[in-house]
Amino acid sequence: MYRRILITSALPYANGPLHIGHLAGAYLPADIYTRFQKLKNRDAIHICGTDEHGVAITLSAKKENKTPKALVDYYHENIKNTFSRIGIYFENFSRTTRKLHYELSQSFFLSIYNKGYIEKRKVKQFYCENDKIFLPDRYITGTCPYCNYDKARGDQCEKCGKWLEPTELIEPRCTLCNSGPVLKDSFQYFFKLNEFEERLREYIASKKNKWKENVLNFVDNWLREGLKPRAITRDLEWGVPVPLEEAKNKVLYVWFDAPIGYISSTKEWSKDNWEKYWKDKDTKIVHFIGKDNIVFHSIVWPAMLMAEGSYNLPDEIPANEFLNLMGDKISTSRNWALWLDELLDRFEPDYIRFFIAYIMPEYKDSDFNLHDFKDRVNNELINKYGNLISRTLSFIVNFFESKIPDVELSEENIKDFNEIKKYISEAENYIENFEFRKALSTILSGVDYINAYIDRQKPWNLIKYDKEQVKRVIFTTIQLIRSISISFEPYIPFSTKKVLDAIGVLNYNWDSAKEIDYSIKGKGIKNIGNLYKKIEDKEIQELLSILHSRVLKEKNYITYEEFSKLDIRVGKVVSAQRVEKSRKLLKLLISLGNEKRQIIAGIGESYTPESLINKNVIVVVNLEPKKIMGLESNGMLLAAGEKPIILTTDGDVEEGSKVK
Ligand code: 2FM
Ligand code: ZN
Repeated sequence: MYRRILITSALPYANGPLHIGHLAGAYLPADIYTRFQKLKNRDAIHICGTDEHGVAITLSAKKENKTPKALVDYYHENIKNTFSRIGIYFENFSRTTRKLHYELSQSFFLSIYNKGYIEKRKVKQFYCENDKIFLPDRYITGTCPYCNYDKARGDQCEKCGKWLEPTELIEPRCTLCNSGPVLKDSFQYFFKLNEFEERLREYIASKKNKWKENVLNFVDNWLREGLKPRAITRDLEWGVPVPLEEAKNKVLYVWFDAPIGYISSTKEWSKDNWEKYWKDKDTKIVHFIGKDNIVFHSIVWPAMLMAEGSYNLPDEIPANEFLNLMGDKISTSRNWALWLDELLDRFEPDYIRFFIAYIMPEYKDSDFNLHDFKDRVNNELINKYGNLISRTLSFIVNFFESKIPDVELSEENIKDFNEIKKYISEAENYIENFEFRKALSTILSGVDYINAYIDRQKPWNLIKYDKEQVKRVIFTTIQLIRSISISFEPYIPFSTKKVLDAIGVLNYNWDSAKEIDYSIKGKGIKNIGNLYKKIEDKEIQELLSILHSRVLKEKNYITYEEFSKLDIRVGKVVSAQRVEKSRKLLKLLISLGNEKRQIIAGIGESYTPESLINKNVIVVVNLEPKKIMGLESNGMLLAAGEKPIILTTDGDVEEGSKVK
């Protein structure tokens, strides 16, 4: 059994504000987990800080015309403030530019260097003579030698997923200015990751059936390919200097120093206590991350820790998948993002926490849809929990002079109360297993149970003839509300604080939620009125138009040449039918003059198959074939809108005509 839990969440880069994807990926699950552990009276701490090195930072600084220092100073404060607004609590929120972090990263490097796990190697490196910098791997674009994708990055091909060396790219270009970079001689320090392959295999094997599938699959693929030494230094000015005389002007690679930030932040939090969280065997270490960070946390970081030797390895790496926004991938460069601050300016933090937990991408990518946000918050949080609170409290105000009834409970009442324990225990098991969505839905079922209890008892009728019985019902209801609110706290801490405070519950913990609290008998309550205000459609519309106009302002031009790669033609629908087991998909046969094509289109919510026959449609015909629900689709229909409606021609044109 563990005696303490060290919880970390991925250090966010201090080069931009936080958006909903950040929250869903790591910070909200980490916060829910930490709050839960604290409610269980366990010794749990949540550690984080901003990641302030690396080219992501220097390039953003360049773009914003600031020094890297000025940029990270600004965003550290900004991010810290947003976390506090949304109620993500940390024992310590540090920065990787602090002295303590530099010292620790350097001594970490030296320790594994002295053990012989780091080697110096000559490298040929791309240098852009136009931008006058050594180009970091991801700032070189070229054609992937494995799959021919022409926008592969120097570190990895996004299409086939292979890790690359920039020199492997065919026709490399500088991502910043598109000129062809030159190769220069340099040297870097390489971490001998390969020497840890066996130990990593054993380590990962010990996590089978424990870690989430998405993490294990990722790691398996990696280990299958075999591990190679990795460069852990860079020729840059911004970063932690490599602590070797011979390495002037070199800094540690950001992914080397960032995870060490977990340790330095813990050390900064408590000089006296930090070590037991990292070194005692009875501590559990849990790293919350998004899926783009899996490889570093499950392979590189454990290997670094093995090499250093004095720290514990991560026990859990609950990584989430991605969150999309209105069906499209979040992209800060395209300006397609919903910033937490702009949401917080409009809505209660608990609305955002509730909804993100509700749709959390635990096992697969999920979508933040603003209409859905409104519906879920209004229908689940407000109608169920909010109304439960309002109707109970106002009943006490109206019939019991704002005092919780002072009664003895009958066996019947106690039986009714005991029902709630089931929900709380079930939610507990889910949270321990990082299944935050299931836990939330269990808690909501608990709320349903309480509402149904009141509806069954009908205190508003009963009050006319049996006030004593009403007292017992209301006292029971207050106990049920107390219990469910305690278990709801990790999700919506601002609301539950208000509620528990209103009914005078001061001391509580997770397990006490399973007991009746007689101390509040006869005590006065605070009339907090309505707990929530419903989200209105116009608020959603407003935000949507802001989102769309932002993307349009961001001028991500493509060239004529790029556009001309698209072959778009007019077609006519010959036949149409629904795809089995799908609400949205239709299987269409489209005539393009000489040729007929099968296309699977997601327009089934706006059209019946019959209504499409003989309609002109616009088709991208040179899109690579794709299987959708096992059916081949050869091209794409153009359509627009959330429930997509098709584009068509204004008058008749010959089938197969090119759109230009
Ligand atoms: O992907 C990111 O945002 C990184 N800054 C995460 C770093 S996690 C850890 F290693 F510090
Ligand atoms: Zn360049």
